[in-house]
Amino acid sequence: MQSNKDGQKVMSWYSHRSHCVEDELTFWKNLSSGKKTDHYYLGDVEFCKNLRIYEIDKHIKPFQQLERMSMLDLGSGPASVLSNYATDKISVIPVDVLAHEYMQISVAENLIRPIAVAGEKLSEFFPDEYFHVVFTSNALDHMTHPWHVVQNCFHILKEGGVFCIRSFVREADRQKYSGLHQHNLVLTTDGVIEENTRINLTEGTSFEMIESVEYSDHESFMAIFVKQ
Ligand SMILES: C[S@@+](CC[C@H](N)C(=O)[O-])C[C@H]1O[C@@H](n2cnc3c(N)ncnc32)[C@H](O)[C@@H]1O
Repeated sequence: MQSNKDGQKVMSWYSHRSHCVEDELTFWKNLSSGKKTDHYYLGDVEFCKNLRIYEIDKHIKPFQQLERMSMLDLGSGPASVLSNYATDKISVIPVDVLAHEYMQISVAENLIRPIAVAGEKLSEFFPDEYFHVVFTSNALDHMTHPWHVVQNCFHILKEGGVFCIRSFVREADRQKYSGLHQHNLVLTTDGVIEENTRINLTEGTSFEMIESVEYSDHESFMAIFVKQ
């Protein structure tokens, strides 16, 4: 067992959730074996060349004029959907708790693979106020303590930085609480709420929601915040 900063014994992510690793790997292996889905980007070089997250483009434009800009993709999966944003001035850093395991999964050569960092440990790994953009897609609801992870995202973002949460609505219900799907996130006018606990994920921060999108199928949403 590991110890936290105060010397208390804490369970590692692995001892707590290792039984879910095979589920995640099977999911990605099936996707990379050729079925055309939203995640087809993993294997298709041409498709990857056109990958953009259009909803965030207008919000990050001011940063793209800077000498340097850095973007974090939290819970990226085997490769980052933000890979196309990377240039010699823009660094894209994907992180995923299963980064080592994902080395078994082949991805297109123009995609960036993640490094192994858990959302719960972001603040130990990156300095405060480091990133211009923190993006997380369909991953917060997989984490043990989404609120705690959002607090970490807040600390590592620069003032004026953009935080983007993309999520399925009530994923735990949809997936019948299987595997890592343990939280029901919903979009409200106050932000993103974990429905079972009624915790607002940005509570305790100065994040202001500047845009939100509910996709027409009403099954997923995106919420964009700025650190004030
Ligand atoms: C459904 S996948 C989403 C992948 C990608 N972002 C997408 O939208 O396709 C969720 C990812 O979150 C990762 N994950 C789960 N718990 C995590 C944690 N505590 N810290 C970092 N990543 C985590 C999983 O390993 C998995 O790759």
